[in-house]
Amino acid sequence: MRVDVTINGEPRSAEVEPRTLLVDFIRTHLGLTGTHVGCDTTSCGACTVILDGKPVKSCTVLAVQAHGSELRTVEGLRQNGRLHPIQAAFKEHHGLQCGFCTPGMMLVGAALLEKNPAPSEEEIRWELSGNLCRCTGYMNIVEAIKAAGAGSAGDAVGEDLGAAESVAAAEEMEAHA
Ligand code: FES
Ligand code: FES
Repeated sequence: MRVDVTINGEPRSAEVEPRTLLVDFIRTHLGLTGTHVGCDTTSCGACTVILDGKPVKSCTVLAVQAHGSELRTVEGLRQNGRLHPIQAAFKEHHGLQCGFCTPGMMLVGAALLEKNPAPSEEEIRWELSGNLCRCTGYMNIVEAIKAAGAGSAGDAVGEDLGAAESVAAAEEMEAHA
């Protein structure tokens, strides 16, 4: 079946088997490997993407269900060579260690801040409850999302980093594929 989507603002399409998972469509058919596969069983949230404005676990959605939809992955966060505020905040507040959970965490955080720019710690932790991190203990992830909402991280890091370094930092957060 043919699946057409707009992903990170770009129209893309591919022929897939009806059983193809959205995460495999994104990684294998579209070549965007920043979206990770951790458990493949809806437990870890590593595969989180934004589907029509809402975070979903892409290992639990069929590619054909996303036909005609708007998708956003971690590769769509940075713009014009600059870190998205949530990326800048994760960098500044050490919100990642191995980085495997990071794309999903940042997308959940970005979606939360779009609907609520000043969430409480409890609200942040609730939103993150479907995403597991085996490294950080979550505290710095929560701090990073809070800082991104307050607008205190993105500006500072944006000023300090040159475009090349911003791109390198963003690519690091999209890596560990
Ligand atoms: S890979 Fe999808 S929830 Fe873990
Ligand atoms: S930083 Fe390693 S799993 Fe979260």
